[in-house]
Amino acid sequence: MKKTILTGIRPTGNLHLGHYFGACKTWLTLQDNYDFFLEIADVQALTDNFHQPDKINKSVYELTSDLLSIGIDPEKVHIFIQSQIPEIAELTVFYSNLVTMSRLYRNPTVKNEIAQKKAIFGSSGESVTYGFVGYPVSQTADITAFDGELVPVGEDQLPLIEQCREIVRKFNSIYGSTLKEPEPLLSKNPRIKGLDGNEKMGKSLGNAIYLIDTEEQVKEKIMSAVTDPNKIRKDDTANPDVCMVYYYHKIIDNPNLETVCQECKMGQRGCVACKKELIERMNEFLDPIRKKKEYYRNHPEEVKQILDNGTKIAKEKAQETIKKVKTSMKINY
Ligand code: TRP
Ligand code: SF4
Repeated sequence: MKKTILTGIRPTGNLHLGHYFGACKTWLTLQDNYDFFLEIADVQALTDNFHQPDKINKSVYELTSDLLSIGIDPEKVHIFIQSQIPEIAELTVFYSNLVTMSRLYRNPTVKNEIAQKKAIFGSSGESVTYGFVGYPVSQTADITAFDGELVPVGEDQLPLIEQCREIVRKFNSIYGSTLKEPEPLLSKNPRIKGLDGNEKMGKSLGNAIYLIDTEEQVKEKIMSAVTDPNKIRKDDTANPDVCMVYYYHKIIDNPNLETVCQECKMGQRGCVACKKELIERMNEFLDPIRKKKEYYRNHPEEVKQILDNGTKIAKEKAQETIKKVKTSMKINY
């Protein structure tokens, strides 16, 4: 029997290199050997985008076709839409009794995200909603609805998995052994930095390369990427370790990396030429993805069918779980 993997992604926009190298690339290696559920977490996305339903709706299809374009195989991975599985919402309600408010507020992931909101929105960031503070509970429902055993996540999500495990233990101790306690599968790749040198690549930070960016967009973005500020002239020596162009040569596995590094250090490489090489290699990497994306753009019915199929399989599994849970909780009338 294959082990079950469950992971989720919020549909708030297109995939960028940060998603790809930080998470999705690992998923591609896992899809052969596990029973893999991949949740398009639209309900979770709405926790902080509830006033933008159109954006989330459109992103569900965009994100799914991005995932297919990078090689997620719908024959192997059940891609499904969270909102279409009401059992997840039911579990969320049941679990909400098993967690205290203070424990939620203490969750480092939630705490950080609230702090970020305050930093961005000022005092209006104070008005965090019940749904937002409670999202570790609904994420616990996401995982346990499918008996997720392994949960591939980045480091920032570890406190959520820990909280999920606590809820599962509490549930089992009160209602009898029912739920599986999941393990995190920590992504090997650290967070991918932005073109501007920011520790994080993100849409809101405006420093991302999207997998479906055009050649022209990629060129523009890389040409304005941050390099070693001490290098003024073409033949100045420089430090590639502080240069985002070098960082991306590394990320995309440039076979010529050692030469880039040496030439940069010895002042034998100009930044413009160096950027041009990166642009070419980046476009080579993105081209097959763009072509597939184009295909799915022209075949939206296929994307819809894939989501319908995945959601159907996910629903069957969630229904089994909810039956067990209701029996344990003595609410199976
Ligand atoms: N919270 C995750 C993120 O923002 C996405 C997510 C939703 C998820 N449901 C999940 C991750 C279940 C793992 C398991 O990246
Ligand atoms: Fe960066 Fe290349 Fe310029 Fe060196 S030569 S600073 S690696 S862009």
